[in-house]
Amino acid sequence: MTQLVKFPKSFFWGTATSSHQVEGKNFNDWSKWEKENADRLALEAEKKWGAEQKKAFPEMLDPKNYLSEKAVSHYLRFEEDLDLAKYLNQNAYRFSIEWSLVEPEEGKFNEKEILHYKQLLLALEERKIEPFVTLWHFSLPLWLSEKGGTACREFPKYFEKFTSKIVFELGEKVKFWITINEPSIYVANAYLKGFWPPQRKNWWLAYKSYRNLLLSHNIAYKIIKEKNSSSQVGFANNIAFLESKLKFCLLNKLAIKIYYELVEKRVYIFTEGHNDFLGLNYYFHNLFKAPLKISNENKEVNDLGWEIFPQGIYEVLKRLKKYNLPVFITENGLADATDQKREKFIKNHLFWMKKAMEEGTLVRGYFHWSLLDNFEWDKGFWPRFGLVEVDRETGERRIRKSALFYSKIAKENQMEMED
Ligand code: BGC
Repeated sequence: MTQLVKFPKSFFWGTATSSHQVEGKNFNDWSKWEKENADRLALEAEKKWGAEQKKAFPEMLDPKNYLSEKAVSHYLRFEEDLDLAKYLNQNAYRFSIEWSLVEPEEGKFNEKEILHYKQLLLALEERKIEPFVTLWHFSLPLWLSEKGGTACREFPKYFEKFTSKIVFELGEKVKFWITINEPSIYVANAYLKGFWPPQRKNWWLAYKSYRNLLLSHNIAYKIIKEKNSSSQVGFANNIAFLESKLKFCLLNKLAIKIYYELVEKRVYIFTEGHNDFLGLNYYFHNLFKAPLKISNENKEVNDLGWEIFPQGIYEVLKRLKKYNLPVFITENGLADATDQKREKFIKNHLFWMKKAMEEGTLVRGYFHWSLLDNFEWDKGFWPRFGLVEVDRETGERRIRKSALFYSKIAKENQMEMED
């Protein structure tokens, strides 16, 4: 039996990207760090990803894999890329502003680069695609990272100036703003695990960075609303679904409680009154099978070994219902170079998303990560997240089969689902 899963009228169907991952030719804290770490990352790759993945993605052994350099030249090819988004029936597109381009020196804004984003917004308008603009997606101008980046005391002040300028220049054409991308993921990788620049493992700096990012969200909210009260503002929060097989294990209960306190509850208390919507990036499920021991069943995994667990999007959306705010799935996707799993991934996640909607969570849109294959931070280019494949040598774009599947859903605003 097949059933028809229908989505509400004027639902937003989109894809998401971020400046540093797609634009190319950036000169920021990441591009600097990549040069310093590419050799090390290439050397560590085999041990980290195992022989099988090394065979499938030999480029992970090449230091060049870890240099974003021209990325996928979205900066130059955005018109062509937006034509693809249009062709795929998208009515929304999430992208980010590259701070290092717009303010390459403290307090000095580059009008030419602001014009670039105006042109991008115009290109979206011409294609009737709604922009969702992210103000900050992990990368920093060098001058700011030298001052201590997101952990420095003045960070919110710098972010305020940057936001004011962007909102003044682009505000007319943007209704939906995403201030900050994934504060908890950034802080964990940059300040606790030491994986991302500035590669620190310091609880105090982690706390300062987290607090600054959330404070900056609140500040940006006010700036945007003052300029135009009908703008809709939120931030993209990565929330995983955590569960314990041992129903009565207090340690697991506590661990799960602390996780949700830190990434969800406290965060929404801190930003209360400063969210017109909640942005959810859903990627992860963690199952505790023994006390404090995560062992996922991993019946299906993506190329990065991350478990594919569609029901988790429903579980997290159910948690978000109590905030009684509209929700956008600001990211959801997988690394799948052969495109064998993406169609089923999309279908099942949308099915569970719809179930949460039927039970009262106000989901208003879904953004697949990503439109294009792109630069996956410290892992470089080998993980392929795109609905559209990008040839690393020629830059040629090729629409994957799963993209056509997603496009059909966007066009018909419904999908068929087998029981
Ligand atoms: C980030 C993206 C990233 C994606 C896949 C999210 O955490 O916002 O920048 O590419 O996950 O790892």
